[in-house]
Parts: sequence; structure tokens; C-alpha cells
Amino acid sequence: MNKKPITAIIVGAGHRSIIYADYSIEHPDELKIVGIADPDSDRVSEAAAKYGIPKENCFTDAAELAERDRFADVIINGTMDKDHVSTSVPLLKKGYDMLLEKPFAVSKAEMIELVNVVKEHNNKVMVCHVLRYSEFYKEIKKTIHSGEIGDIISIQLCEDVSYHHYATSYVRGKWANSDRSKTSMLLAKCCHDIDLMMWLMGDVKPEFVTSTGSLQYFKAENAPEGAGERCMVDCKYVDTCNLSARRIYLDLPGRWDFYVWPELHHASYDEKYEYLKNVSPYGRCAYKCDNNVVDHQTVMIRFNNGATGTHNLTAGCAFSKRIVHIIGTKGEINGIFEDQKFTVSYINPHNESDHTDRIVDLSESYSASIGHGGGDHALVADFIKYITDSEPSISCTSLDDSVAGHLVVFCADESMENNGMPVKTEL
Ligand SMILES: NC(=O)c1ccc[n+]([C@@H]2O[C@H](COP(=O)([O-])OP(=O)(O)OC[C@H]3O[C@@H](n4cnc5c(N)ncnc54)[C@H](O)[C@@H]3O)[C@@H](O)[C@H]2O)c1
Repeated sequence: MNKKPITAIIVGAGHRSIIYADYSIEHPDELKIVGIADPDSDRVSEAAAKYGIPKENCFTDAAELAERDRFADVIINGTMDKDHVSTSVPLLKKGYDMLLEKPFAVSKAEMIELVNVVKEHNNKVMVCHVLRYSEFYKEIKKTIHSGEIGDIISIQLCEDVSYHHYATSYVRGKWANSDRSKTSMLLAKCCHDIDLMMWLMGDVKPEFVTSTGSLQYFKAENAPEGAGERCMVDCKYVDTCNLSARRIYLDLPGRWDFYVWPELHHASYDEKYEYLKNVSPYGRCAYKCDNNVVDHQTVMIRFNNGATGTHNLTAGCAFSKRIVHIIGTKGEINGIFEDQKFTVSYINPHNESDHTDRIVDLSESYSASIGHGGGDHALVADFIKYITDSEPSISCTSLDDSVAGHLVVFCADESMENNGMPVKTEL
């Protein structure tokens, strides 16, 4: 480990950047936040006070920061999806290395632009695929790598998104309308899962992708008879509807608080009530918003050795979960991330049940209350190793490592728009 802490500038002082930047509070010997750029002056003042950033190192945006000579080692870029490439490019050209939120680009063209800039300026860029840092996926990766289940024939992943998560982020919230966010549901939500699939498949590369999906349920024609426009203003179902803003956000005010009341954390119940009732986009009827992203999508991938992968995204589920089923030539893996448990089943003709099981139970050491089960800060620790040329972990996701997953997502969305036409994963 190097003697002096890595110095970092926050670009986009939102929910995600602050989680990463807080690593500096627990580990001042490893990371020091020395600058900040964000058009939101309240966020700048709050973060400047928290990390002790001098006024001359506070900027209104990435462009203003890029006008100054480089004065730190790295950038923590936690801007929104559509701003990742435009905010990164000028700073990468200044020579900064970068921790960059996913998705690192919102189109194939943007992806190519970023990859070329990084190649030309030789920056180290790590993408925040936090799930690679969870013990659950790390143990699955190690199991596959050990050869225990043989060669993978089929890898099947499912992501179920709960009704309240979907209603918050993809119906009422920031990723609801792709014309505004420039991000598809698959890209925003499942680029993690497709990245995991590419990582677990190792050296085998995707060749063709097909996909189908639609927005089936969360639209006006499915609203209950006589539903209003705003749950707490004119809707008779406010106490009974499963998507009622009052039931989802006010009855449990900690649920999605960082999206619903980022500026109202300390407000009273009455203030929150009035805001949700009359002002907030999260107070709208979930059947009558301007959302256009899918609520379910299936992706099929053929790899260059003949193996296949599927990913099923389904929203509006009773609870969120990620399901993994991987079938190899000698055995298989079955598990659910939220249970923090998976079973490895080995083919065994000498056993009456035809197979022998090994159960991997990580639930005791898992804490859902710390960011991604500890993955958020493990990722920052690994980023520091990557930057300082120490040996990073098997989870480290450089920009190049993240390209295959993003490419599959772009191809899948292209296929879905063309009624499932197979799309070759060419750059
Ligand atoms: N890795 C994960 O598990 C994970 C989880 C959730 C979100 N994300 C991703 O993290 C990113 C950030 O999400 P968030 O909810 O923290 O966003 P946010 O909206 O809270 O923060 C984004 C910040 O960027 C600022 N900004 C906008 N334009 C800027 C510019 N030109 N220069 C500097 N700052 C600018 C905004 O003012 C805002 O404060 C998104 O891309 C999201 O998809 C990742």
C-alpha cells in the first residue's frame, strides 16, 4: 500500500459518489477527498463541509473542473448515466484516473468514444460493478474457475424487481422515461447481471444476442376503475392500492428515502406528507406516469463455444431477488443472491439421488444494511489497489472488462426493438 492517501475529486455529489467518498472517512490513510464538482450548490456545500474541501476546489460542473490543471490522482464520477461520457472525457484527457459509475455509456457509439479516449491517454478506469464484490458471486466465480462443474453449457440468470422498487425508479423516478434518461431498463438495472454473466463465463465470448420484452402492466389502461392522477389528492384507492404513494413512501419513510426525499431527510411527517401529496413526482398514480421503459425483458446469448446464456428481467414482483442457475458438464450451481446461499450439485452415479450436493451458505456473514453487503467499500478498496499498481482482486472491473457486458445490453435492446432479430456482438 502506498504511504500517502490517493487524492480524489467527486464529480456528481449524489447518492452513489458520497457512498464511495465516505470510504475516506473510515480510511483517511488510503483516500482523501480534495475537490468537488456539481451544479447543485447545496450538495457542494454539504460535501465540502463533510470532507473539508477548500472553496477554491469547488466547481460548478465537470467542464469547469477540467479547465483547472490536474490537482488530484483520481475522479469519482457519480453523475447520472447519460452524463458519464461527456463528463469523463475532458477529465480523462487531463490525465485523471477514474472510478466511474455504471452504465459507463448509454450507447455503442458513446462506449467506443470512451474506450478510445482511455486507450489514447492511458488512464486507469474502473467501473462500479459492485455485485462482483459480493461474497455470493465471488464464491460462484471461484467454484466455476476451479473446474468443479466442468465446462458451462448454460448460464441462466433472473432478476426480479419488486413492485415498489420498480414503481419508484422506473415508473415515477429517474429511469422511467428513456427519452429523458437516455437509458433503457436493461441497461440501468441489469448491466450488473449481464456483466456478472460475462465475468462468470471467463474467456468465452458472446457472439449473438436476441431479446424480447415490453411494457405490459404499468400503464393507464390497467389503472383501477376511477383511479385519480395523484394518490393523495384525488384517488379513492389511496389506502388499498399496492402502488399508493402514501403506502409505499409515507407508511415506511425510510423506503427509497434517498430518491423520494433527498433534500427532506429531516423534515417532519406533515412536511413530507404535503410534498408527496402536491409536489413530488413520486406522488403520481403509478398507472398514469410518462414511463416508457419495459417491465419485463428476456435476453438470449450464444457464446463462441456454443454455450448459451439467458437473462430474465421481470418487474412488479412481490420481492426483489436474483436467481442463478449454471449448468456445467460435471455439475451445476443453483442459488438466490438474497438468500446468500447456493448449492453445487455434482453428477454422481454411485449415489441414489444421482448427485452429491455441497451447500455454500454465506448468510451469517452478510449484512444487507451495509451498501451492497459491503461490496461498495470493498470496491473502493480494490480501486485504490488498482490505481497504486498493487494486485487488485478477481472482482476488479477495468473499462475493458466491462465492455462485453455493455455491448450485450446494447445488442439486446437493438434486438428487442427489431422483434427479436439476432444481433451480432460486433464493435
Ligand atoms: N453501482 C450501483 O450499484 C448503482 C446503484 C444505483 C445507481 N447507480 C448509478 O450511479 C449513478 C448516480 O446515481 P445517483 O442516484 O447517485 O445520482 P444523483 O442524481 O443522486 O447524482 C448525480 C449528481 O450529478 C450531478 N451532475 C449533473 N451534471 C453534472 C456535471 N456536468 N458535472 C458534475 N456533476 C453533475 C447532479 O447535480 C447530481 O448531484 C447513476 O449512473 C446510476 O445509474 C449505480
